[in-house]
Amino acid sequence: MYGRVALITGGTGGIGMETARELARRGASVVLAGRDPRRAAQAAREIGDSAGHDRVDAVTADVTALDGLRHLAAAVAGRYDRLDVLVNNVGVNPPGRRLTPDGVELMFAAHVLAPYALTRLLLPLLRRAPAARVVNLTGGIPGGPIDHGNLQGERRLRGWTFSHYNHTKTMTMALTIRLARELAGSGVTANVVYPGHGYTPMNRDTPIRAFPYLYRPVAPLILKVVAPLLLSDLTRSARSSVYAATSAELDGVSGAYVDDRCRRKPWPASALDPAHQDAVWDLCARISGLDFQPL
Ligand SMILES: NC(=O)c1ccc[n+]([C@@H]2O[C@H](COP(=O)([O-])OP(=O)(O)OC[C@H]3O[C@@H](n4cnc5c(N)ncnc54)[C@H](OP(=O)(O)O)[C@@H]3O)[C@@H](O)[C@H]2O)c1
Repeated sequence: MYGRVALITGGTGGIGMETARELARRGASVVLAGRDPRRAAQAAREIGDSAGHDRVDAVTADVTALDGLRHLAAAVAGRYDRLDVLVNNVGVNPPGRRLTPDGVELMFAAHVLAPYALTRLLLPLLRRAPAARVVNLTGGIPGGPIDHGNLQGERRLRGWTFSHYNHTKTMTMALTIRLARELAGSGVTANVVYPGHGYTPMNRDTPIRAFPYLYRPVAPLILKVVAPLLLSDLTRSARSSVYAATSAELDGVSGAYVDDRCRRKPWPASALDPAHQDAVWDLCARISGLDFQPL
């Protein structure tokens, strides 16, 4: 990866930081984005030390806000003349319906709008790399229906087995399929990975109310006992992101879904539905005011 530049949102903690660490270890110049300047600087230092080079940079930005995304894209463009890898890694799972400063529902903003807008804002830089890769992360139990009347959790945030977190992660998949189509011929590919479960700040802090109803009785046991015992190896959770960012097996591959063991998997039917892809895409375009045409 020497000579390549990779941006990882949420690269200052959890799976994103492990992804950044491994890309830096392989020689890439790495940019981490997180909200807290102190944590971001510390993570950059720690990753640089473990990689044995100083090509690790940090930008403070909230990727759930359009201003934050513009600031991040401008900062990266000000420091680098190309971008080879963009990992849209930030995920959130709040207990209730929260709105961003732009008035956008928070999970939709983090999992759907941010990958759309950041890819578009960084497209000039991505196109300057010979074969840039966009990696979007799914999670939870994606694959349920996409509800056009509830894209921002307007009607409900969770059911018995499915939550709006899962809903927005299914939208990430639909968005990425459309993104791969829009980017065809541009030299930029876009794929989705599933990281598997890892004991990260997000999991540790997930309130019981954020779980679908069926899982709530066992959620405390999972969070406090099972997860710390079984899921502390974050290098495993970062494996699929690193694979999608670097593997020669994915040279030129776009619009693919890769699981936590780095295997290509079929998309869920809901993500493949062009009507869902268009609904998600059009909403992102409307909210962000950013358009992919003409490339
Ligand atoms: N952990 C799992 O078991 C699991 C399972 C399946 C899928 N996933 C997915 O994997 C991805 C990473 O998950 P994770 O568990 O590692 O998440 P995490 O623990 O919440 O990640 C923490 C990182 O995200 C940053 N961050 C959070 N909100 C941000 C914002 N608004 N803007 C910029 N940075 C922000 C944090 O930095 P600051 O706090 O410094 O801002 C930190 O760098 C997510 O997309 C998640 O949905 C996770």
